[in-house]
Amino acid sequence: MALQILDHPLGTHALTHLRDQTTKPATFRTLAYQVSLLLALEATRDLALRTLPVQTPLETIASRVLASGLVVVPILRAGLGMVQPFMDLFPDVSVGYVGLERDHETAVARSYYCKLPPLAGKCVLCIDPMLATGGSAVQALSLLRERGATDLRMVCIVSAPEGVKAVESAHPDVPIFTGALDRELNAKRYILPGLGDFGDRLYGT
Ligand code: PRP
Ligand code: URA
Repeated sequence: MALQILDHPLGTHALTHLRDQTTKPATFRTLAYQVSLLLALEATRDLALRTLPVQTPLETIASRVLASGLVVVPILRAGLGMVQPFMDLFPDVSVGYVGLERDHETAVARSYYCKLPPLAGKCVLCIDPMLATGGSAVQALSLLRERGATDLRMVCIVSAPEGVKAVESAHPDVPIFTGALDRELNAKRYILPGLGDFGDRLYGT
């Protein structure tokens, strides 16, 4: 399905500094917030609206508000660095958690935690800054689908072509919103040029 790459000067600016290896965790977190906020706006551009009558100081009009609930699901741990802007923009959002960790040798993700609100009938945004092999995203999306999600979207900060391909083939109906589409994976399945280990840089580990 559709791959949408963020096209905003602030996104480009923030990504440059996220990639810079001298950027410290505090600044890294602020930049991650900025890119995630822009991505949150893009990924929710087509949310359904319903009519709501509202009395202005002058007259009553049939205006519109968001029609259905939104759920955001960060993939732990790095996905936590993207949650705040979704909560700031959508105060009624529900937040679920999926814990996945890649094995350092095989790059295969192991599931260690899952706590999800009801997903049926909701717009469900799975968020994870790095889409490398796509193994983590494919697993998380499958889990969300098993729990009843039908309107699913994947939101990432940096993606590799390999990861995009994996998600597209396992979940062809899931659009991917990404801050950047990078060149390739290296032998250890890190994204090139990428920004290194997002979780480590976010939390200074
Ligand atoms: C990173 C990242 C993704 C995953 C991407 O997490 O946040 O979840 O790797 O790689 P993949 O597309 O090859 O699956 P990691 O497993 O390093 O765990 P962390 O978030 O706890 O740092
Ligand atoms: N996870 C990261 O944090 N960075 C990568 O480049 C790949 C997976």
